[in-house]
Amino acid sequence: MTDSKKSNNGPAFIEHNKKTYELPVYEPSIGPKVIDISKLYAQANVFTYDPGFTSTANCASSITYVDGDNGILLYRGYKIEDLVENADFLEVSYLLLNGKLPNNKEKKQFDASVTNHTMLHEQMSKFYTGFRRDAHPMAITCGVIGALSAFYHDSTDINDPLQRMIASRRLIAKMPTIAAMAYKYSTGQPFVYPRNDLDYASNFMHMCFSVPCEDYHVNELLSKAMHKIFILHADHEQNASTSTVRLAGSSGANPFACIAAGVACLWGPAHGGANEAALNMLEEIKTVDRIPEYVNKAKDPNDPFRLMGFGHRVYKSYDPRARIMQKTCHEVLDALKLKDEPLLQVAMELERIALEDQYFIDKKLYPNVDFYSGITLRALGFPKDMFTVLFAVARTVGWISQWNEMIEDPEQKIGRPRQLYTGDIDKEYVNIDNR
Ligand code: SDX
Repeated sequence: MTDSKKSNNGPAFIEHNKKTYELPVYEPSIGPKVIDISKLYAQANVFTYDPGFTSTANCASSITYVDGDNGILLYRGYKIEDLVENADFLEVSYLLLNGKLPNNKEKKQFDASVTNHTMLHEQMSKFYTGFRRDAHPMAITCGVIGALSAFYHDSTDINDPLQRMIASRRLIAKMPTIAAMAYKYSTGQPFVYPRNDLDYASNFMHMCFSVPCEDYHVNELLSKAMHKIFILHADHEQNASTSTVRLAGSSGANPFACIAAGVACLWGPAHGGANEAALNMLEEIKTVDRIPEYVNKAKDPNDPFRLMGFGHRVYKSYDPRARIMQKTCHEVLDALKLKDEPLLQVAMELERIALEDQYFIDKKLYPNVDFYSGITLRALGFPKDMFTVLFAVARTVGWISQWNEMIEDPEQKIGRPRQLYTGDIDKEYVNIDNR
């Protein structure tokens, strides 16, 4: 860490075994300062202990900033609200990747570079036929992305910036095609090729919902909603799946393998799988009068049930994405004349009751980005098991931006945490016949 980062309030000190250790403190551009403990083990022969990394910064990053107490989300310094309102998904993707908004010429070039790489190698469609038709689309997506490295050897040298840029654009371009093919495969309908005359979101919806027997016209408002949903999910600092991508990348693994690792981690119901789980929960609750029963279950320490789409490791206030997601949900349901959707009523009443309940107030539990996304995606025509796939499509640009930043960071080395060992020691080996 360069000296310019050092805090002018001076170092921190740790007292241990009657010795004092001085630890440098670094200034962020915004948010908490960090104490550099990287030399602590060498100096004091002790590890720090932080399961789940609740108080640990694993890198310096200039991509995304999350202020959990004030519900603020910035992509490269721009407010998420401004980006969702004014930009399309590829403009935000350019921003996340390059650190600045594109001018008209740069945007045109970037759009063209993504659009012209949306097709998959024809051999890759054979992977799909190896899966059962009822395979979860996340299982298919995870497998097919990992297989990309078998087709694109010319963009796997992570030390070549040109190859990193080619791999990044290939991943952004091909994710919608891979996802749409996973959906089509589950329906038994033929794959639909990408179209170069459609924008990113419209192309994705066309690949998912068009059939060879008739023309398909993307509804302008719905594709705008799709862009907003992709933007909301594009990046989110050092969340579990992004940290997975960084850790995989720290070993020098190729970008396709790293993104496949990120998809696998995102699938968990505590993370990106929460949008599917949240809709399952709303469908199980079914009616407003059953909400108190489920709120009580969520509060019962002996019941593992949690309100899916509620709570967050960082947001201890309203997730700004949830507010925008709720608004987009209303826009989509209104456009589709579904505004009496019963699950929306259940979701809004559940939110109202939970936000007034002392348990949720004390634990600072608010709706997160996954709470309203499920209702919106179902209204757009996606089945539940595609929700996390859509999250992965959007998050690919965040993962690959963070991966590039890590590769270019001179401080980064292979990630290798230590442990607090609590197992046996000095055990005598006993022959199997005497056990
Ligand atoms: C995402 O990290 C990111 O940025 C992720 C993400 C991104 O964009 O990448 O924002 C996307 O993953 C959003 C989160 C989606 N997950 C869910 O909606 C699943 C439900 N939420 C919970 O599982 C939970 O809130 C987590 C996993 C999201 C956060 O858990 P933490 O930070 O580890 O907090 P915790 O589990 O320690 O909970 C603190 C307390 C606990 O009670 P006590 O042990 O203190 O008594 O709050 C309780 C929890 O039991 N609690 C909940 C709850 N979430 C936490 N109780 C009821 N319902 C919930 N949803």
